[in-house]
Amino acid sequence: MKRVLLMDPIAAEGEALLSKSAEVLRAPDSTPDTIRRLIDDPNTVVLVACEGTRAVGFAIMEFGAEHAHLVLLAVQQQRRRSGIGRRLVQWLLQSAATAGIISVRLELRADNEAARQFYRELDFVETLHMPGYYQGRISAIRMLRVLRLALNEAPRWQPPTLRRT
Ligand SMILES: CC(C)(COP(=O)(O)OP(=O)(O)OC[C@H]1O[C@@H](n2cnc3c(N)ncnc32)[C@H](O)[C@@H]1OP(=O)(O)O)[C@@H](O)C(=O)NCCC(=O)NCCS
Repeated sequence: MKRVLLMDPIAAEGEALLSKSAEVLRAPDSTPDTIRRLIDDPNTVVLVACEGTRAVGFAIMEFGAEHAHLVLLAVQQQRRRSGIGRRLVQWLLQSAATAGIISVRLELRADNEAARQFYRELDFVETLHMPGYYQGRISAIRMLRVLRLALNEAPRWQPPTLRRT
């Protein structure tokens, strides 16, 4: 199997490559303007999977204080089913968990059976059906992966007591 590297497109000076790849990969909503805006957004992480100098996949996630949003994900058609999508998402999930993020959400077309199956495999669950989400006519599904329980914080503080237990 070819070696796939995950890299930050800015550090790798690969922004042009990413924009071009987004077209080639035909990711939904991935116009060069959208990609540019997402790269410029300081709350967004853009990850590119490369084989040599060729981008074969990418993922973009927005990080909030407690929740993250997986905005775009695509793998080149010929390289699908070789674990690239899984590696991209797992990298982002690990980063989110390290940052203390509670949950990661995403939306996808309701008829995108391959992606639904992919996200189920990565333990995302379907939480919402949204009719007309895309262009007012195409239904979407929202999926969610919970990374930690919001109420499961540090144990409540109790005053010290002399009583031995
Ligand atoms: C969804 C997508 C990113 C998956 O990427 P990928 O690199 O092919 O996925 P992986 O190889 O890592 O697959 C991991 C697991 O997900 C599941 N899976 C992936 N694609 C699947 C498919 N077409 N049908 C059924 N299960 C699938 C499988 O369980 C797979 O493991 P396996 O190959 O060992 O059986 C890719 O199909 C894609 O780019 N689609 C077009 C863009 C898109 O739909 N993006 C998501 C919506 S935002």
